[in-house]
Amino acid sequence: MSKEKIGKQNSDRNIKETTDRMIRVNHAGEFGASRIYQGQLSVLAKSSVGKTIQHMADQEKDHLETFDKLIIERRIRPTALSPIWSLAGYSLGVLTARMGEKAAMACTVAVEEVIEEHYKSQHETLGDKDPELSIIIDKFRLDEIEHKSISNNFINLNKSSEAEQDENIYPLMSKAIKAGSKLAIWLSSRL
Ligand SMILES: [Fe+2]
Ligand SMILES: [Fe+2]
Repeated sequence: MSKEKIGKQNSDRNIKETTDRMIRVNHAGEFGASRIYQGQLSVLAKSSVGKTIQHMADQEKDHLETFDKLIIERRIRPTALSPIWSLAGYSLGVLTARMGEKAAMACTVAVEEVIEEHYKSQHETLGDKDPELSIIIDKFRLDEIEHKSISNNFINLNKSSEAEQDENIYPLMSKAIKAGSKLAIWLSSRL
């Protein structure tokens, strides 16, 4: 086999490794996101934010189904950590929802800030190497940005005291959720 041919095979393999890993971690992330909203809906379905959360949950379901399909079509091993993300996501959803509607929305803002960055960097890494995946990632990134703005708007409209006005009302919670999301991304792309 010619050197060029071997070179091309190697680079194809590298691209496949990269895109497989992206799909695995995104599949895990969208599953986790769906579980967060399911947890929140178990508490807040009938509240004033019920419909809003349902709208985001429906989009996450669509995201998850898309990655489900890619995992099967491309024969990618899903993360072994699904049971953990199922429990962690659902618990986070229930916990933040029990703290109240604003806390539930602040949870979405924190998660989406991480996911938006994550999708952006994947999109940049991909370039034109995998147009199918690239289009999906960019579309989902825009959906996640929408979730973040919906949630931010809700928080801003419902700030009760002046002290809350220009501050992140749950700074510690947001930090913890962001750190947790980053750790989940790191683990899911490897395990
Ligand atoms: Fe999503
Ligand atoms: Fe989302």
